[in-house]
Amino acid sequence: MIFETHAHYDDEAFDDDRDALLSSMQKNGIGVIVNVGASLKSTAAGIRLAESYPFVYAAAGVHPSETAELNEENFAWLREQCLHKKVAAVGEIGLDYYWDEPSHEIQKLWFARQLELAREVQKPIIIHSRDAAKDTYDIMAAHNAGEIGGVVHCFSYSAEMAQEYIKMGFYIGIGGVVTFKNGKKLKEVVEAIPIKRILLETDSPYLSPEPNRGKRNSSLNIPHIAQQIAEIKGMSYDEVIAVTEENARQMYRI
Ligand code: NI
Repeated sequence: MIFETHAHYDDEAFDDDRDALLSSMQKNGIGVIVNVGASLKSTAAGIRLAESYPFVYAAAGVHPSETAELNEENFAWLREQCLHKKVAAVGEIGLDYYWDEPSHEIQKLWFARQLELAREVQKPIIIHSRDAAKDTYDIMAAHNAGEIGGVVHCFSYSAEMAQEYIKMGFYIGIGGVVTFKNGKKLKEVVEAIPIKRILLETDSPYLSPEPNRGKRNSSLNIPHIAQQIAEIKGMSYDEVIAVTEENARQMYRI
């Protein structure tokens, strides 16, 4: 069965057909879905989805671009959510320097706080890192993130950087970009790293793989991603599905 390690079904892009779509997943081979929090509101919505569908799990966390909303009071609330039995991880957390706001200082502060929260509740972390390779790595190293474990999702850096994260004990999340014509760098990453460290993800509703690029994404597109990985690594499609499922189960302990 396919293990979808990163999606956002609480997104308004699914408001019209969320239940029909989620109800179709299992008969299409999608065995488990982790719905990842991007804000306090989406964390709450993700947990509601996890409570409604046995095969859906949630991650609780605030995306770097949303960290300006955090304060001591709602951080205590977030901590409570992390203890929920269907919350499998803390995320997505990290640094995003593509946008100017919030400031790097605010992003770094709440990245570190959420990292330590994950250590406290003993759940893995889902890292979002864009245009911030060095600071992300430095904060993770300073906090011994290898002891916490997790995944660097929607990986966008070099093969060398991927090896560094793997050395630290992390998995690498591979999504639709690997199917893009201009996705050469990510194809090189997939070629360079062991299949035992790869997780399949979509980041739905974003980043639809070819041949559906530009359309709303859903976990039903994961076969296109797995097929591309199979071709790059010279493995069978079934083997890619089986190994990545095992990887995800180990990381999320599901
Ligand atoms: Ni995401």
